[in-house]
Amino acid sequence: MSIVVSLVGATGAVGAQFLKILEQRKFPMRKLRLYATKRSAGSKIRFRGEDLTVEDTDPAKAFLGADIVFVSATTAASADYCPAAARVGAVAIDDSSAFRLDPKVPLVVPEINANDLQWHKGIVSTPNCTTVPLAMVLHALRQASPIRRVVVDTYQAVSGTGSAAVRELTDQTRAALAGGKIEKSVYPHQIAFNLIPQVDTFREDGYTKEEWKMQEETRRILGLSGLLFSATCVRVPVYQAHSMAVHIDFERPVEPKQARVLLSEMPGVKLVDNPEKSLYPLPIQAADTDDVLVGRIRKDTSNPTGLVLWLSADNLRKGAALNAVQIAEELVRRNLLGKR
Ligand SMILES: NC(=O)c1ccc[n+]([C@@H]2O[C@H](COP(=O)([O-])OP(=O)(O)OC[C@H]3O[C@@H](n4cnc5c(N)ncnc54)[C@H](OP(=O)(O)O)[C@@H]3O)[C@@H](O)[C@H]2O)c1
Repeated sequence: MSIVVSLVGATGAVGAQFLKILEQRKFPMRKLRLYATKRSAGSKIRFRGEDLTVEDTDPAKAFLGADIVFVSATTAASADYCPAAARVGAVAIDDSSAFRLDPKVPLVVPEINANDLQWHKGIVSTPNCTTVPLAMVLHALRQASPIRRVVVDTYQAVSGTGSAAVRELTDQTRAALAGGKIEKSVYPHQIAFNLIPQVDTFREDGYTKEEWKMQEETRRILGLSGLLFSATCVRVPVYQAHSMAVHIDFERPVEPKQARVLLSEMPGVKLVDNPEKSLYPLPIQAADTDDVLVGRIRKDTSNPTGLVLWLSADNLRKGAALNAVQIAEELVRRNLLGKR
């Protein structure tokens, strides 16, 4: 167990999950070093019974001697830190969108394309928190028939925007219930008791960047550059776990029964599909768990080759920290760490 790990963004919403997951999965490392900004430097975080001190991230020092650097801060920070980590022989596993569409950087969901880790050059990207669960479900179902088209509507939790958004939902909910003034800083509108059909900024084609990222990343991971795709991403007043209504058009008809078998065989996916007993995926069930929950599987009555389903998955875990730790586990298992 000689592995040294640096975690950048240790004080963030995803950072907190990294710490839990590394502990829960007994990740085989000798040392964990924690980094954030000056704001949190000096604060202590308990890990495996020890108080670790968070340091300001100085890229000239933070990555020296590290085998793995988890970067979970901001896209701008990733653009600087990941190449810096790779230069000193570490493998950077990046949670941001900085390298997800870079053809020189593998974009990996281990259950789908772990073999892409073989050609990494010191940086590996983990996909957007909406892309991961969707790609897993599509990957399981394409064993029944090639997929032609996907239409997806998301219901995304506020933790997807980080810890400031989590506080904003709590503060606005309290203020609204007390009849007080609603303050906004993270979102352009009140999120408490509301829905916002905008995740990230708008592009010229009328889609948001989140919707576009979901399309491009899904195509890349599945190796389906021509996949027809349309998404509407909506922020909802839920703390943790994103949900989605997914409409899939196949080349050949796929029966719900066959879909249930394929999904139940897919690692990391769990069926919750007994509508008569009101059993279907809920974000509060998916929060703090590892599996992508899938249910409401039914034929699309508007399309003979279509299926419709509903899923919920934890955006901070499988959508971010868990997927990154699984990538690290694969790198260790396949002996693919850098030679520092
Ligand atoms: N939230 C999700 O569901 C999700 C899912 C997939 C991917 N991601 C990605 O994961 C990353 C972290 O997201 P988050 O939700 O955890 O955000 P967050 O709650 O706002 O936390 C950000 C973390 O990054 C640190 N940080 C910010 N700028 C930094 C810099 N220049 N150098 C070093 N550390 C810096 C912050 O430190 P301080 O505490 O000192 O400010 C904090 O620890 C982002 O790239 C995000 O796009 C998030």
